[in-house]
Amino acid sequence: MTEWQPQDHYFHRAKKEGFIARSVYKLEEVDRRVRLLRPGQRVLDLGCHPGSWLQYCARAVGKQGLVVGVDTRKISIELPAHVHFIQADVFELLPADLYHISKEFDVVLSDLAPATTGISSVDSSRSFALFQRALTLADDLLVPGAHFLGKIFQGSGFDEAVKELKSRFGKVKGIKPRATRKQSKEIFLVALNKKA
Ligand SMILES: C[S@@+](CC[C@H](N)C(=O)[O-])C[C@H]1O[C@@H](n2cnc3c(N)ncnc32)[C@H](O)[C@@H]1O
Repeated sequence: MTEWQPQDHYFHRAKKEGFIARSVYKLEEVDRRVRLLRPGQRVLDLGCHPGSWLQYCARAVGKQGLVVGVDTRKISIELPAHVHFIQADVFELLPADLYHISKEFDVVLSDLAPATTGISSVDSSRSFALFQRALTLADDLLVPGAHFLGKIFQGSGFDEAVKELKSRFGKVKGIKPRATRKQSKEIFLVALNKKA
């Protein structure tokens, strides 16, 4: 079995490139493979702490775009003016809570992850609940043609998640980025071109 290395290649690379967490390279790989992010977009990042995806999106959309991050945990990094943070539980967050920043978004990202118990059926069903919550918010906030990226643990709910995405988006793809730790059950589902 591969030994878990908390400070691996991606950890050192993130430090060198000025990102707060190694998980930025999961988003970077998805973006490279499917061209998710473009200048000027409005991006909602659910489960954004400690903020590496916010940092990446801030650069990708530029000052003409905007980024809103949501997490129960407060962000401690400094954010540029076009990046906003809302401290909230996604199960309590309403679309209207975002209206003072934007009523519509071009991309919803969810790296939401439950506190794991080690019991895979419990962890995967909690992960599925978070995924579904992100998708419900995306239903209300994404414009037609928009994109969704959501993390989910493989297990119960996975097939249902794919089915739900296929009913709403033109193209759905599963990606396990290289920066995902070998022992992790997480996979990212990317869904492009929201149907009108
Ligand atoms: C893997 S981390 C996100 C890492 C982030 N993408 C980054 O690169 O910096 C998952 C986050 O989901 C958040 N989270 C889990 N359940 C949540 C909930 N119900 N509401 C809001 N945030 C939640 C956790 O607090 C945690 O910060």
